[in-house]
Amino acid sequence: MIIAIDGPAGSGKSTIARMLARRLGFNYLDTGAMYRALTWKALQDGADLTDANALCQLMDQTAIEFRGKNDGMQIWVDGVNVTEKIRAPSVTNNVHYISNASSVRHRMVKLQQMFASGGNVIAEGRDMGTVVFPHADKKFFLDAEIEERARRRHDEMRLPDGEISYADVMKDIEIRDKRDTTRDNSPLRKSDDAIYLNTTKMSIEEVVARIFEELEPVVKKLDVYKE
Ligand code: DC
Repeated sequence: MIIAIDGPAGSGKSTIARMLARRLGFNYLDTGAMYRALTWKALQDGADLTDANALCQLMDQTAIEFRGKNDGMQIWVDGVNVTEKIRAPSVTNNVHYISNASSVRHRMVKLQQMFASGGNVIAEGRDMGTVVFPHADKKFFLDAEIEERARRRHDEMRLPDGEISYADVMKDIEIRDKRDTTRDNSPLRKSDDAIYLNTTKMSIEEVVARIFEELEPVVKKLDVYKE
């Protein structure tokens, strides 16, 4: 069974997807982490991020794996655990080179589909419902007003006052939204059959409860369902 969750940066999809994975005993596929992992590798190697052929070659030579299960998945690149490293600002600021490269995306999609062929998965990203898993059992598109998404991101960073301002986070999210939605290949878009949830005024618990309402008829068939 595949549950697809898409949405823009700061929409709460990672937190929600992780909670769902834990509650359902599903594996959690964080596809953003895969694009970040290759970005980390490219930066390590000093690769030319503007050279699509070089990035494609790098992808072919790089082993990206998930280890662990459910919501505790760790991401490894060529035998190195990069779960924390891929959250560095250098990675966040450069990941668009990788996620824009069509040949890289093509390979990433194959890897993501292979990952999901092994069992029950909550897949999170930008193109889960539209491109990677068009036949997912259930699709959700999480959204929130940009001010709220920036507020969540800023809170999440828990930085000493003034280190990164709310205005900077907001600017960063605006740039990422623009890149994600205007990309030629697999731009962020709600799949026609996805359930749209605007979470601006909802708590995490409310979002999870709402998703569970939708999922109940689907997951009831599985013996993994946990209260
Ligand atoms: O969700 P995230 O911030 O970890 O994603 C990192 C980047 O990867 C983000 O800029 C968008 C891109 N991405 C993508 O293009 N397709 C996906 N399925 C997931 C993420």
